[in-house]
Amino acid sequence: MRILFVCLGNICRSPLAEGIFLRLAREADAEDRFQVDSAGTGAWHVGEAPDPRSVEVAKKNGIELVGAARQIRAVDFSSYDMILAMDADNLRDLERLLGSGAARAKVSLLRQFDPDAEGDLDVPDPYFGGPSGFDDVFQLIHRACRGLISELGGAAGKPDEL
Ligand code: 4NP
Repeated sequence: MRILFVCLGNICRSPLAEGIFLRLAREADAEDRFQVDSAGTGAWHVGEAPDPRSVEVAKKNGIELVGAARQIRAVDFSSYDMILAMDADNLRDLERLLGSGAARAKVSLLRQFDPDAEGDLDVPDPYFGGPSGFDDVFQLIHRACRGLISELGGAAGKPDEL
């Protein structure tokens, strides 16, 4: 299964989602079932490494972030099975790019898999805030990725180790 995580710049939230998901898949011995990547709806940061604040919060939790920012491309809508947006703006931008394409069903919000989301399905953009925003974002993404893995048949009921 191929999963693409999408945010605005592909330097803060979606690289974290990619790293966290991979780590959880590895812990569930399910790494070989998934191919994951991340992308941004915007092009401002193309080629850049993840934001140092995302790198830091990932490192604190034993996860190394790799890769350089890229912008989503039309081919992603056919080559990925699931395209998971971080917030409603990202989702709206993806839907605009999709038009009436048949790939519409592949696109949704990551926090739909967060069992504690309680109606708020955004992973808020931490870019203009302080470091504590990145801790909060890490926790939200981690919870949603656990829900996602469990939904996809791996690691159901595994205790939260992070
Ligand atoms: P991301 O965060 O979408 O989580 O990567 C942002 C990165 C850059 C900007 C906004 C959000 N920006 O305005 O440049």
